[in-house]
Amino acid sequence: MLIITICVGSSCSLRGSDELASELFRLIQKEKLEGLVDIVGAFCMDTCSKGVSVRVGDQEFSGISPAQAESFFYEKVLTRVDNKFASRIVDDSAALPSSGKEGLS
Ligand code: FES
Repeated sequence: MLIITICVGSSCSLRGSDELASELFRLIQKEKLEGLVDIVGAFCMDTCSKGVSVRVGDQEFSGISPAQAESFFYEKVLTRVDNKFASRIVDDSAALPSSGKEGLS
């Protein structure tokens, strides 16, 4: 699972970390990545002066504003979703029965 860590310390909160987290969560749902990408909060990540601090896996970013959420998600998060996970999504959908009545006899 890819973890997005968003600083919820006081400085980042004032700069919109809650709004950024909400927007990233909406994008995770939109792209049906629940269970593959998750968001957690963290206290001060020691880069307060640069704006909202975010970590995607082990890569750190700072100065991310809520207005940048969508471009950040598609450029820095979606591109990091492991291909193994992506193929699992395809495999899972291929395994779904074509009709809801199959296997219910
Ligand atoms: S409060 Fe977010 S990096 Fe310090």
